[in-house]
This record gives sequence, structure tokens and C-alpha cells, in this order.
Amino acid sequence: MAAYYSEEVIQEVVEANDVVDVIADYMTLKRTGNSFKGKCPFHNEKTASFTVSREKQLYHCFGCGVGGNVITFIMEMEKLSFVDALKFLSTRGNIILPEKNNEIEDRQAYEKKQRLFDLHRESANYYFKCLNKSQQGLNYLKQRGIHEETIKTFGLGYSTNNWDSLLNYLRTRGYTTEEMLDSGLVMSSENKRFYDRFRNRLMFPILNPRNQIVGFGGRTIGGDDQGPKYLNSPETVIFSKSYELFNLNQSKNYIENGQLFIVEGYMDVISLYDKGIKNTVAALGTAFTPFHGKILERYANEVVIAFDGDNAGAVATEKAMNILKKTNLNVKILLLSQNEDPDSFVQKYGVDGFNDIVSKALTTVEYQLELLKRTNNLTQTDGRIRYGNQAIKILKDLETSVEVDYYSKLVASDTGINAATIRREVIRSKNNRDDRKPIVVDLGKTQMMNQNIPKAYIKAQELAVRYCLKSPEMATEFPMDYLTDDLYQQLLMIICEEVKNGRELNHSHLTNHFEDSEEVKKIVELLINEEEVSKIDYQDALNIMIRFYKEAQLEQLSEQIKKESNEGNEIEVAKLTNQLIEIKKMMKENMRH
Ligand code: UTP
Ligand code: MN
Repeated sequence: MAAYYSEEVIQEVVEANDVVDVIADYMTLKRTGNSFKGKCPFHNEKTASFTVSREKQLYHCFGCGVGGNVITFIMEMEKLSFVDALKFLSTRGNIILPEKNNEIEDRQAYEKKQRLFDLHRESANYYFKCLNKSQQGLNYLKQRGIHEETIKTFGLGYSTNNWDSLLNYLRTRGYTTEEMLDSGLVMSSENKRFYDRFRNRLMFPILNPRNQIVGFGGRTIGGDDQGPKYLNSPETVIFSKSYELFNLNQSKNYIENGQLFIVEGYMDVISLYDKGIKNTVAALGTAFTPFHGKILERYANEVVIAFDGDNAGAVATEKAMNILKKTNLNVKILLLSQNEDPDSFVQKYGVDGFNDIVSKALTTVEYQLELLKRTNNLTQTDGRIRYGNQAIKILKDLETSVEVDYYSKLVASDTGINAATIRREVIRSKNNRDDRKPIVVDLGKTQMMNQNIPKAYIKAQELAVRYCLKSPEMATEFPMDYLTDDLYQQLLMIICEEVKNGRELNHSHLTNHFEDSEEVKKIVELLINEEEVSKIDYQDALNIMIRFYKEAQLEQLSEQIKKESNEGNEIEVAKLTNQLIEIKKMMKENMRH
């Protein structure tokens, strides 16, 4: 019987799967302006006429005329029916499809969210009106150098010093107590008295990329006895701090040369905006997360971390840098002096001063070396040697010999150590592989083989194997379980043997290991393929495999859970559910690295 899904569910699945990210699993896309281009996967072509628009969430080929949204793409690519494509994408987007036709429940959940968006919008309007009546609030902003235009653009507001202003306002607008509590803007005391979360604070609405208001930040302006400097909305069904970035909704339209700034505070964003620097975002009080990294990857090519110059800022920089290094983004770091933040800097030195230090922003390696320099006394011999040794550990992660060469010279000039010596040490520790971490965590066996293997998986697998042919040493740490094709497993095993025996890989001899002519043909196809594969392509491919593999595990587990639960085996269900949660957690952490 054909399953039927409501408009809301379909919408949710589409929104959880960005069309650019999905298509990038199947082909190489290059950013050109606001859209992405690549060679059409549906017809043979030399020029790239296949276009994907992030904004419209659609693709179109100017060559052969195909086009559609993320669902039609998966239907075409994986040769699936509409419903199966929807299932495929719901797994990918971590969305649970309703078992039966729960149209009524879906609609209720959807409408509940819409009500919360509306509630936030009305609250923002209310806070905005209150600000215009609050001399204290307006004076505060004026004294911080924020102009009226900017106040309007960000929809800044003020929450009055009463316990129930917003509550009463929302009540007159027809919202129920339950809705107010769900929004997090109203709280409940032990004896069931309700009161406003934000009082006597400057209010910063937080908008998602679709320009819906999902939460607020609130800053004290009344002095020190007013609680923490900033309060933020709690996690709600429409707001999660690990995903949202303040001002992404606006800054995504102002990205210049692919560049976006990440700052620490609301006020940094607003102050820079006021002076004309509009391509900035801030994380929301909590740490910068891998999800943030993944989201920024969609919009920018390069991010500049511009955190506060104090120690807390340095610690946060290091953390964000390590997360961002795992993305495809080019990462740079702006060093501010100890008591400076981007806001104070731009107030003092203006946009020109700011642009000036931006042009001197450090690469991640320069930044790491800079930190090392600070902890070692370079005027003394032992300090220079220690610095040299520590620097080598940083340089060994560099990808190209051009970079190794460049930074070796840099360290040489800091220490007086010979550049050639440093380069040699770097290359030696590069080859000393003991300290490399395995790429994946083994979760036990799952039989991808029994399932319909997605084409994206097959393509990723082929690319990963091709990379191992090019860089045989990668084969030794390849997660073999993830290979669905015996032939590939055999091939990788042969490569591993050669590497372990210290022999060079001879491509033309490889086919000798296979007898079946079909197998030989497949191996030759791999060997003859001259399309470039970079290390980044390889890592992307592995990540795609890991993701699909874990999704397959999740699916199998869900099936088992269903079965056991039908048979009433509670303990088994609990055990399996724990496993399921573990994998989901791991997927979140690993999230496409
Ligand atoms: P900052 O203290 O640097 O804030 O904290 P700021 O935006 O520069 O504000 P001003 O210039 O002092 O007015 C950085 C960010 O950390 C979060 C907020 O998101 C803030 O913007 N934070 C800070 C909190 O969530 N709670 C706090 O108590 C303090
Ligand atoms: Mn500040």
C-alpha cells in the first residue's frame, strides 16, 4: 500500500537536506557567485552546465534541461520512487518519518512551530517598542556608538523591569501559557507563578537563516546586581545554540570574496555592522560547534576567527580553529591585543584600521607558531631548541611540500636552526605514522552488502580506493569493513602487503593478482582513470561512506528494535536502543568531520 506523507513531513525532510550538500555527495560542485556549478550527472558533457542554487534549493541543467529539488534528484540518482527517496532523505537528515499516516499529528507539530515563530516575532516587536520608550536603553546604545539604522536593522529591543510585561502582552495577543512556556520567554516558579525570563535587558533577536526569530539574547544595562551580563533563550523546539549563529541570516548576503568573520559577541557583530563590516557572525554564548562549521561551509570559502584578545578569547580561538580545520573552509585568525575585542578595535581605529589587521590575519600554522613563541623564550638557546622541536610537530600536518618549505624557513629564521634540517625532521615525523589516529571508530559489523547500496556510497568507495592506489600508505589504515565490494577488499589487502614489505606499488603488476576477466577489467578501469583525487576528496569520500554505513546500522537497529518490541522483549529493546543512541551521538560528533 502506498504510504502517504503530509505536506508538513515532506517539507521537513526537504529542509533537513540542503540540496547543495546532497548533490555534492555525487559530484564535484564549484561555487560561482550565488550558485554552484558542475558537470551534469544526467547527460554527458564537457562544460559544466548543471547549476544548483542554495537559495532556491533547486537544481537545473542548461544542457539537457533536467531540474528539480532534492527529492527529484535522489529519485533520479538512486532510481527510487518518491516515497523511497523521502525515506532515504529522512535517514540522511536524521528525521523520523511517521509510521502510519499521522497527518493530523504532523500538522499539529508543524503548526505549533509556526505559532512559536509568530510568538517570537510579536515579542520582538514588543521589545522594540519598549526600547523606543526607554531613554536608558537608547542612551546605552548611543553611548556604545550604535546608530538608529542599526537598531532597526537588528530589531534591537528592551525588556522592561516588570515581572510580567511580556506575559501580559502575549496574553492580549492570544497566546496560551503553555505556548509562552514552550517559547522559553516566560518561566514558571515552583508555586506555578509565571514571569518573564528577560527583565531590564537590552534585547537581541536571534534569527535563523530563513529569517525566522527563534530566540533572544538579553544584556544587562542596569549595573552589576542584575545577574549575568547576558541571558539567552533556552533550547526549544525551534532553537538550538549548537546550530544557530547570530546574524547569519544577514551576513550570508554580504559575504565578500567568500570571506566571513566569526566573532565572540553580539555587540561585536552589531558594532562592526554599524561601521559597515557586515559579513560577521557570532556563536551564541556557548562554544563554537562542528555543526556551526558545517553550516558555514555552505556559505563561505574562508572564515576569519576574530575573537577577543584576552586569554578566554585565545582558548576559544584554539577550539574553534580545530573544529574549522576539519571543514573545507580556509581558516585565518585575527590577533587582537590583550584588552581589545573587534568592537572596541573598530571604534578606536575605524574600518581602515580593521581592514589593515585583516590583511595581516594569520594562517592557522602561523597562529600556532605564534602561540609557541609566546611560551618559549627565544632569546635563550634552550628556548629556541624547544620551540624548534615543538614547531616541527605542527609542521608535520602540512599537506604540501611547498608549505613545509615555507614554514621551515620561517622557523629557521626564528631560531637560527638550519631550514633544511627542519624540513628533514618534518618529513621524517610525517612518515613516522605511529601517532596517527585511526579515522573511524569501529562499531561492529554491519552488512551494507545486504542492502540496496546507494550510488553515492559506490562512488565514494571507488574514489577512496583510487586514492589508495595513488597514495598506497593510506591503505594500511583504511576501514576495510566499509568496503562493500570483495574485489576492492582484495585490492586493498594487496596494496597493504606491498606497503608493509616496503615495496613500491607497481600498477601494471596489480592485475596479475586477479584471474577473472571481469575483475581485471574493473581494476584496469580504476587504474586508468586519470581524474584528480586530492586528500580532501578522499576524506570527503570516507566521510560519505562512514555516514551511509552508520545510517545503514541505524536502519538495521530500528528494524530489530521494532521486531523485539513486537515480541515484548523489553530488555533487548532497551539494549538496542542504547546502541542506537550511541551511534547517533557518534554521528553527531563525527558529523562529516
Ligand atoms: P562578551 O562579554 O565578549 O560580550 O561575551 P560582548 O558581546 O562583547 O558584549 P559587551 O561588549 O561586553 O557589551 C561574548 C558572548 O558570550 C555570551 C554572549 O553571547 C556574548 O555576546 N555570553 C557572555 C553569555 O552568554 N553570557 C554571559 O554572561 C556573558
Ligand atoms: Mn565586547
